[in-house]
Amino acid sequence: MPSRYRYPLLRYPGAKSKVAPLLSSLFPIEFHEFRDVCAGSAGILAYVPRDARRWINDMNADVMSVHEFVRDDISAKQAILDMVRPLDTPDKRAAAFAEAKRKLEQGPDPLSYLLVNRLAHKAIVSRRRSKKGADSWLASLDHRYNRDNRHGLKALTASRVDFWAEALQGVRTTTADYTVPLTAPGDDVVCLIDPPYMLGKASGRLYEHDWSRDEHYRLFKLLRECPHKFLLTINRSPLTLKLYSSDDFRTPFRKGKGFRMRPREYLYTLSGNRHLEKATELIVMNYDR
Ligand SMILES: C[S@@+](CC[C@H](N)C(=O)[O-])C[C@H]1O[C@@H](n2cnc3c(N)ncnc32)[C@H](O)[C@@H]1O
Repeated sequence: MPSRYRYPLLRYPGAKSKVAPLLSSLFPIEFHEFRDVCAGSAGILAYVPRDARRWINDMNADVMSVHEFVRDDISAKQAILDMVRPLDTPDKRAAAFAEAKRKLEQGPDPLSYLLVNRLAHKAIVSRRRSKKGADSWLASLDHRYNRDNRHGLKALTASRVDFWAEALQGVRTTTADYTVPLTAPGDDVVCLIDPPYMLGKASGRLYEHDWSRDEHYRLFKLLRECPHKFLLTINRSPLTLKLYSSDDFRTPFRKGKGFRMRPREYLYTLSGNRHLEKATELIVMNYDR
């Protein structure tokens, strides 16, 4: 199976698909249930054994509607191909983009969301975004249509949709606050937590649901009491170092709940730049691996 099929159908700011092999190698050797509590494009699912119970959650209902559409609707593949194939000229692409944006303003629509997501600047589909700068987005639509066999709209091929339709079978989906899957009872559960990062004073305006400093404190407090194994990925910042580091990673940290923290250098395309840059991230876990 060519690895490009494993790239998620949605482009996503902060997506972890490139580092999914690394993250999944840090999961416990055995587990019964996997929960991705801030799932976004949910690319990690490609690396989770299909015989585990799987639950993906994200507060963004548009995002989850795409996963549900591909999982549940047997005509999804054809609908996606029929949407992409005719867009063979810049004019058609601009018109389809404008039409999909208009439809989204009226309510959730997975196909329109997928189209806008794959063509939008930095993959940011925000209902809050102003119309300013719309012309410069249009100028780059062609680039984002053709781009490459991973990111371009054209890269939504039949094989890739098939891969995800299959990978999503049996996966539970919810649009709850992350605390729901993080705390719901379960047997031998591992949770992946990849929340919006703190970029400067507040988290950047990347998602419909961004996080304040208080949200990060709320997460930290919950993780101290988390009943399940978890793996948190977070950017390295004064706040996250303060919350999650201890002098010795193996020393039980606060109330006997031991956090293990590993700095990792990922190669990222930061802020939609085309060039790979190095970013140091923290991986925090509450189990040995
Ligand atoms: C860094 S992104 C996740 C990226 C994802 N790991 C991927 O590979 O595409 C953070 C996600 O958290 C979601 N989110 C923000 N606040 C949330 C909350 N309170 N509960 C659940 N999801 C939330 C956002 O909608 C966004 O999709």
